[in-house]
Amino acid sequence: MTLDLFAENNKNNQNNNQNKAAENAALRIEEIRKLIEGHNYRYYVLDEPHISDATYDQLMKELITLEQQFPQFYSNVSPSQKVGAKVKAGFSTVAHEVSMLSLDNAFNDQDMFDFSKRIDNRINNKTILKFACEPKLDGIAVSLLYKNGELVRGATRGDGSTGEDITENVRAIQNIPLRLMGEGYPETLEVRGEIYMPKKSFELLNELAQKQGTKKYVNPRNAASGSVRQLDARITGQRKLEMCAYSVGLVEGEGLKQTHSEILYQLKNWGIKINEHMQIVEGVEGCLEYFKLLSTIRNDLGYEIDGVVFKVDDLNLQQRLGFVSRAPRWAISHKFPAQEENTIVEKVEFQVGRTGAVTPVARLKPVFVGGVTVSNVTLHNMDEVARLDLFEQDVVAISRAGDVIPKVMMNLTSQYMQNTSERELDQSYELFRTANHIKVEAPTKCPVCEGKVIRLDGEAVYRCTNILECSAQKSESFKHFVSRKALDIDGLGEKLIEVLVDNKQLKHFDDLFSLDVNQLADLDRMAQKSAQNVLDAIERSKATTLQRFIYALGIREVGVATANNLVLHFLNLETIMLANKEQLLEVDDIGPVVADYILQFFEVESNSLLIKKLATILSWPDVVKQEGLPLTGQSWVVTGKLSIMSRDEVKDKLQSLGAKVAGSVSKNTHTLVAGEKAGSKLSKAQTLGITVLDEQQFIDWLEQLEA
Ligand code: IVH
Repeated sequence: MTLDLFAENNKNNQNNNQNKAAENAALRIEEIRKLIEGHNYRYYVLDEPHISDATYDQLMKELITLEQQFPQFYSNVSPSQKVGAKVKAGFSTVAHEVSMLSLDNAFNDQDMFDFSKRIDNRINNKTILKFACEPKLDGIAVSLLYKNGELVRGATRGDGSTGEDITENVRAIQNIPLRLMGEGYPETLEVRGEIYMPKKSFELLNELAQKQGTKKYVNPRNAASGSVRQLDARITGQRKLEMCAYSVGLVEGEGLKQTHSEILYQLKNWGIKINEHMQIVEGVEGCLEYFKLLSTIRNDLGYEIDGVVFKVDDLNLQQRLGFVSRAPRWAISHKFPAQEENTIVEKVEFQVGRTGAVTPVARLKPVFVGGVTVSNVTLHNMDEVARLDLFEQDVVAISRAGDVIPKVMMNLTSQYMQNTSERELDQSYELFRTANHIKVEAPTKCPVCEGKVIRLDGEAVYRCTNILECSAQKSESFKHFVSRKALDIDGLGEKLIEVLVDNKQLKHFDDLFSLDVNQLADLDRMAQKSAQNVLDAIERSKATTLQRFIYALGIREVGVATANNLVLHFLNLETIMLANKEQLLEVDDIGPVVADYILQFFEVESNSLLIKKLATILSWPDVVKQEGLPLTGQSWVVTGKLSIMSRDEVKDKLQSLGAKVAGSVSKNTHTLVAGEKAGSKLSKAQTLGITVLDEQQFIDWLEQLEA
């Protein structure tokens, strides 16, 4: 071999080696891309993560290193490219090949019957139609264009015909695949859906904004919309958005099935998230049932929905039905009642509670929100008033979600005055302040007894200091003492208590038990018969439970659950009264603050004298030690109308068997006892697959247990 030939040979070998290395790299790169895509799919679409974050990060690192070493294998759809590109100057426009329509709305059952009738008439239908039902996600509509399985364009809905090009932004959203999985998808496939921000991500984002002193978003929808339209797509990527598909737009080539629901399942198989609550139902009745079901689980979902959408499932029928103006005839959205409305704060008044806490309450121009009319809303304390920068006559946004108490979300007038308003101006109200707007200030005197009001260090609330004489504090203590979860004295209403307290006929709790018919009947508008009814109820309340009695005393921070824990721990009144701090801290849920309140309460001599007196008037069964009780550790819920036992009897029974009785159904609920007309709690339990007993089944079960 000549020297030349040797060199030639050597070079060939080198080239071969290099080719081999590149070949291997190409294989490994594709392998890792598929692995990562598979993990993304499990995590974002199936919600079943399979590997640890660390392993995932390691794969990603390996991929990025290989792609840097072998730039010839760069791909725009590699999962390593989901980071968001550099900042853009603005968004260009995109013309939608197939218009992005909106939906007609139904607000009640009748609207739904009309919708179905219109369909039947139009296609002369005599059968029961199948509808696909989905939650109406509260985010922003998006179009994702896939060509040969690769994501080539993302766009907003815009006016339906033209939207904005947000390709870089959608590429940065974690659950949007850059290429489809599997096979069989049409050459051109436009996936449509909603981009939304899960409630958790929204809270975290606003917490961060609070810490950094930057702008907070009003709600998850605004946050999603603001995050998607970031000129720096890296920010979009950090915002933890999700996309969920609900239809397709432009389709070229074969591959799609013939019903809406089957197409959604196809999308899911190709790696696109669809909503887990999609369901097929029959006829309007099925739709209305679905609406009810979603209304009950709405607040437990991890994202906001503002209604449900019903679509004729069969694509042939959809085609025959067509469109009217900008909405299809084959679909409708059934909206939930608005959960947020604007109204005027006409006045702010201060209420005095049994512990002297002076609470500001806003009196509103009545407003219908979340299915009820709201005229009063608590403002909690003066810190909240300051947060809202509240003046009387300001326009505020009130929200009421499900069973949650109404809340003032924001002060539109204040935002307007400070020029920080995030939302479009509310056309129905003037937002600027005039001389009629009065700043809400903390009172210096108790609005009831005129006693001095102070704010203690470290407390958010102001308190009336006139503990012994303030009639508001006294009335509130009596109201609490007789309330349903305490001594449960039916018929002794709030007004009557206030009169008796004002007349000084009720000073201490034991005065209740020495009232006589004539004393009551002398009061305005009180007939002899009703007076006797009240006395009978007082008499009946003497047979009670120790837990109810402890709760009735109104010790600060000792609610039903704490009273129950105290009783189960110490078993009798004397031991509770004698417990020292160390012993109190051994009780479930009692921390140093509550322990101090309990100690302070029993230290006051007049309190312990009163308790001793009451203990001779009232009676309660002995408390048995809890260990080994049949229902220890279980959480039960009681709902609906019971006819054999009272609801409180059922609760007392369950507690005596060791169960905790909770107010609402959750996945931790063991059993629901449901009487007649049980509403949302029953449907929720059914959805969650929780055992439900009706009243008779419960009684049979009790008998067996106690046999
Ligand atoms: S279907 C032709 N399904 O609601 C049908 N829309 O009011 C087009 N939306 O712009 C829409 N969840 O952004 C459909 N499951 C869902 C939806 C949904 C939310 C939004 C969508 C649309 C608006 C129409």
